[in-house]
Amino acid sequence: ARGRDLEGRRILVTAGGTREPIDPVRFLGNRSSGRQGVAVAARAAARGAEVTLVAANIEVPPPDDVRVVRVSSAEQMAAACAELAPRHDVIVMAAAVADFRPEHVQEGKIKKEQTGDDLTLTFVKNPDILRNLVIARVPDQVIVGFAAETETDDEARLELARRKRERKGCDYLVLNRVGWNEGFQREDTEIQLIDEHGEVVAEVVGDKVSVADAILDVVAPER
Ligand code: C5P
Repeated sequence: ARGRDLEGRRILVTAGGTREPIDPVRFLGNRSSGRQGVAVAARAAARGAEVTLVAANIEVPPPDDVRVVRVSSAEQMAAACAELAPRHDVIVMAAAVADFRPEHVQEGKIKKEQTGDDLTLTFVKNPDILRNLVIARVPDQVIVGFAAETETDDEARLELARRKRERKGCDYLVLNRVGWNEGFQREDTEIQLIDEHGEVVAEVVGDKVSVADAILDVVAPER
């Protein structure tokens, strides 16, 4: 029984997929449903934490008992996180942030009559929100990243995750396998939680609520 074991903890969670505007009516998005991040926020709140959810595009309703900050693009999410992060003890970056955004947002709708038979868009890199939060981290703050990988070989996937955790500098990394039929938009999932030594400290196959609890058990206790 976990009860209200996270009372007094302030937890910031990001969830969902960002949308990068192309023109007033179009965007570049991804298949993240936000379910995992929303489950982390819901479980953290149910366990007594004070929770802020920075929600990009989510396909499930946000929990009632959390503060919700709505964003759309990666740049908006970066700004919201930079402002909110210092007031939180734990940050869980479950959002699927677009790595790139269109270099120019067209003022008006792109019209096929003007573009001819093909269309080329140039993309520029988005800020790495997680990396920037790690650089700006306040004392005793725990930062958790996610890695959604399509690599099918278990050992190779784990190695990708270890390298990603090192690159980002976060305390923990949640690895999950995604593909056309795994991960995104599903109720069930399979994760491994890696610590700063690259050790697998939790492994869960189950619904996203069980995964959320398992992640919080490791990353959120009072230190
Ligand atoms: O580099 P990659 O996108 O695989 O890293 C995934 C982790 O980094 C996730 O926690 C995601 O929320 C975060 N991320 C970010 N800013 C980006 C890209 C990813 O914070 N621009």
